[in-house]
Amino acid sequence: MNLSNFLLMSILLRIAYGFTVKGPSGLLVVPLGASVLLPCSVDSLSSLEDLEVKWKRSDSQTLIHLYQDGDIRPEVQHEDYHDRAHFFTDDIKHGNFSLLLKNVTAEDEGKYTCTVHSGQESGETVVEIKDVERLIVSGSNKSLSVYVGEDVTLNCSVDSHIPAEEVSWKKRVNDEHILVLLYQNKETQPEASDVQYRDRVEFFRDEIHRGNFSLRLKRVRTEDKGEYMCQVFAGRFSDNTTVTLGQLGFLFLHIMVLILCISACGSALLFCSLIYCRSKHKGFTVKGPSGPLVVPLGGSVLLPCSVDSLLSLKDLEVQWKRSDSQTLIHLYQDGDIRPEVQNEDYHDRAHFFTDDIKYGNFSLLLKNVTAEDEGQYTCRVHSGQESGETVMEIKDVERLIVSGSDQSLSVNVGEDVTLNRSVDSHIPPEDIEEVSWKKTDKDEHILVLLYQNNKIHPDSSDEQYRHRVEFFDDEIHRGNFSLRLKRVRTEDKGEYMCQVFAGPLSSNTTVILKQLDVRVDYSWSMVVPLGASVVLPCINDKPLTAEELKVEWKKSDSESPVFVYQDERSESYSGRADFSTDDIKHGIFSLLLKNVTAQDEGEYTCDVYRGKCNVLSVTTTLELRLLGKSQINME
Ligand SMILES: *[C@@H]1O[C@H](CO)[C@@H](O)[C@H](O)[C@H]1NC(C)=O
Ligand SMILES: *[C@@H]1O[C@H](CO)[C@@H](O)[C@H](O)[C@H]1NC(C)=O
Ligand SMILES: *[C@@H]1O[C@H](CO)[C@@H](O)[C@H](O)[C@H]1NC(C)=O
Ligand SMILES: *[C@@H]1O[C@H](CO)[C@@H](O)[C@H](O)[C@H]1NC(C)=O
Ligand SMILES: *[C@@H]1O[C@H](CO)[C@@H](O)[C@H](O)[C@H]1NC(C)=O
Ligand SMILES: *[C@@H]1O[C@H](CO)[C@@H](O)[C@H](O)[C@H]1NC(C)=O
Repeated sequence: MNLSNFLLMSILLRIAYGFTVKGPSGLLVVPLGASVLLPCSVDSLSSLEDLEVKWKRSDSQTLIHLYQDGDIRPEVQHEDYHDRAHFFTDDIKHGNFSLLLKNVTAEDEGKYTCTVHSGQESGETVVEIKDVERLIVSGSNKSLSVYVGEDVTLNCSVDSHIPAEEVSWKKRVNDEHILVLLYQNKETQPEASDVQYRDRVEFFRDEIHRGNFSLRLKRVRTEDKGEYMCQVFAGRFSDNTTVTLGQLGFLFLHIMVLILCISACGSALLFCSLIYCRSKHKGFTVKGPSGPLVVPLGGSVLLPCSVDSLLSLKDLEVQWKRSDSQTLIHLYQDGDIRPEVQNEDYHDRAHFFTDDIKYGNFSLLLKNVTAEDEGQYTCRVHSGQESGETVMEIKDVERLIVSGSDQSLSVNVGEDVTLNRSVDSHIPPEDIEEVSWKKTDKDEHILVLLYQNNKIHPDSSDEQYRHRVEFFDDEIHRGNFSLRLKRVRTEDKGEYMCQVFAGPLSSNTTVILKQLDVRVDYSWSMVVPLGASVVLPCINDKPLTAEELKVEWKKSDSESPVFVYQDERSESYSGRADFSTDDIKHGIFSLLLKNVTAQDEGEYTCDVYRGKCNVLSVTTTLELRLLGKSQINME
């Protein structure tokens, strides 16, 4: 009989011996934040000895609760459940293994398996939390500033277990509410809007199914200023969020632009952002910027464009474009701004001063500048038969951004791990003054690795990290300051901060190293008849990569091992022991012992190592049936 046949048979045996484990009669529906009892019980329980009760998420196999050897085992439970899963130890004797799960969140939706082992018997039941009843409406919860004539988006997102039945945006006027926009019976009801908002408001059609009920308010007027509420009804729930629309007057706006210019003239050329390029003559002279301006990332910049001589306003057309891509940023035509032809990237970001046209000023305020805004811009003016243009350039956007893919990482003890972080800066990497990785989860910060004055300083690392950390030397010039942490230890778990200093700028991000899987210990006991074959179990919770794995089966009273697997070779020290190397990738290291004799009785240990690190240890006590023993005695 080969191993797989044997395994199959032992599974069948298990089912035959198994008892019935009872769960709930239907799916469970729970309100958000409430507690839910996940029922699990057996009718008859022969003995409390050897009883093991395991609660797991069926999907992720996350361990929620373990009762073993007469006690609960909180140390192997997943940390999310530490304070939330309550097991009724006193009810065990009644065969009741129910679990109380507290403070339920949407993430708790899913299936749960309760597995009960007792002696040779076992059984399980599956419980499903179908819906976590919730309605959470969130928005920007802050005051928005907008210029008259511009468009604005008021955020409102709905997280609910059932679709929203009614969503309304209302504006508070004294103690009354004016209906701005209504969604009801799965449709937007534009005719219900108050007359002052009609044709100026809309939802984002394609976003509604995602619960995004943000309101787009177009061509903002002075009287739109005020408090707006997004109110949602779903089932028996209702929730709301409010946004305040504040306003900057034009006067203040001009002062702001002036400050921008003044600070620009006084600043160093290092962050030279706007460079005057050239001015073409085709009729009249269009003037562009005369000096450098500072544009911090996320800041605003005024792109100047004006003419000396006042033109006739008739037939006036002003066109702002990216010179490289010809993207239309702004168009003034036939006496009005034309937002419908403007590229959508600029809807909320480009502000044109319509009131200043009569003074020959066609400047554009570009807000929330990003690195992508670096490039050339053309301001083109037509009037009657005349035309002219000016080209300007945003050269550098002052920025220092530390970014990386992972917010948190899981790793096994003994393995190596890379904490990815790279620096995007407008200054060259050699001008980065300092990059430090620190462990920050305790009150004090521990220095893990330091880069300063264009050099790595391994000697300044804290002792616990010395010789275990490095940067990738060849990557530093590209701004890649990823940290390689070697031979991870249990105490390495925690939060790591990568902090960067360059000139007046500094920035940082953190990575969390979590769930260090440490050695798992299990023990079993088995009773088998003489002459039978037996599978001594050794199974890891999850698959282990085969690289560098060593498996050693030992008997407690013997120095030499029973079976060893290493470097893809296996060696049996007993002709009767066998092992399926194909199952290693599934995390199964079980040993098949054939034709057991009285001498085989005793304690067997399966140890799995990766490199020097012991990742799994399972002990099985093998006992022979009394019947078999007495037969031996008679012989
Ligand atoms: C199991 O115990 C819990 C907690 O005491 C109780 O609420 C539940 O009704 C019990 N279930 C059964 C089937 O006795
Ligand atoms: C319940 O869970 C939420 C989200 O995880 C948390 O913010 C809150 O503090 C928890 N409440 C209690 C009483 O534990
Ligand atoms: C609106 O929501 C989007 C997406 O969550 C966010 O990026 C944006 O900052 C929000 N706007 C405001 C004004 O809060
Ligand atoms: C919204 O902001 C107000 C005041 O700024 C604050 O008191 C309130 O807690 C905030 N609400 C949420 C849900 O963040
Ligand atoms: C809703 O969708 C709009 C349009 O795509 C987007 O601008 C806005 O940020 C979204 N709001 C949220 C809260 O996701
Ligand atoms: C808005 O929600 C708050 C709490 O979330 C509630 O107290 C208030 O009554 C709600 N307002 C309306 C008009 O529904």
